[in-house]
Amino acid sequence: MNYHHSYHAGSFADVFKHSILTLILQHIVKKPAPFCYVETHAGAGFYDLSSDQALKTQEADAGVRQLLAFQGAFPYALEGYLKHVKEALSMDHYPGSPDFVAMLARPEDRLILNEFHAGTFQALKAHFERDQRVAMHQRDAYEFLPAVLPPKHATRGLILIDPPFEKRDEAQSMTRVLRQALKKFRQGIYGLWYPITDKQPIFRVDPDLSEVLQGFEVCVPVLYVRQPGPEPVGLIGTAMVIVNPPFGLQASLGLLLPFFADVLGVAGEGSWAVLSEVSS
Ligand SMILES: C[S@@+](CC[C@H](N)C(=O)[O-])C[C@H]1O[C@@H](n2cnc3c(N)ncnc32)[C@H](O)[C@@H]1O
Repeated sequence: MNYHHSYHAGSFADVFKHSILTLILQHIVKKPAPFCYVETHAGAGFYDLSSDQALKTQEADAGVRQLLAFQGAFPYALEGYLKHVKEALSMDHYPGSPDFVAMLARPEDRLILNEFHAGTFQALKAHFERDQRVAMHQRDAYEFLPAVLPPKHATRGLILIDPPFEKRDEAQSMTRVLRQALKKFRQGIYGLWYPITDKQPIFRVDPDLSEVLQGFEVCVPVLYVRQPGPEPVGLIGTAMVIVNPPFGLQASLGLLLPFFADVLGVAGEGSWAVLSEVSS
């Protein structure tokens, strides 16, 4: 296991993922009933942008810093995300996904966070040790998720599955665990993050995913910051499969994604879509 998110904190993919996560949460907290947030690959929770890892890749420069350098009016849908990010950046840090959730969660809400990597888990524990709402596990993600569903503390839940895609069969593992999870917690909102690389320039999912999602409402925001070209550059886009999306999310995404395509796109190559089904 070589992946460390500190190399990628604040990248365009983080901006995409965390702004959508914030939007979903803003919908959830409109209702008074408590919710439970479950994350399978939580990372460290908070990242130092002056660390050797972050400085080596400088991915935040083409992500969150490029976003904040925009001179015009930001879309309203981005306000919650921006508020939190500006605070962290003033300390040269970037928040991880659980930190965005902790910011919006109320005292009666719960966070169940899982991270396998020992050093990263220690960092996560240190970041949240005083937060009574947070429980932390150090398990394999795909064994952890079915074990904690349905959540004990609440009937409403949001589950984020955000793996490092180091293994060739990661997308298949995601589909398998989603199938198990939906059997145990059908009404949960699920977010599954996917990279789009120039090896596979079109957003494709594991062929079994569409069958698992039959009968569920889905919403799939897709962002490209580059179009595939002759030179391999790695990550050119990102997508998220959202199962049981909250009402109104699709409309907000329709405002957010064209903005990201403009501001984060490289040399005018940004493009976007919001799909309502997945196809392999
Ligand atoms: C993409 S990062 C997570 C970033 C985090 N969700 C965020 O947005 O701030 C993926 C994380 O999964 C962890 N990881 C890798 N394999 C794992 C496994 N089998 N089970 C749980 N965590 C794993 C890595 O150590 C890494 O911290």
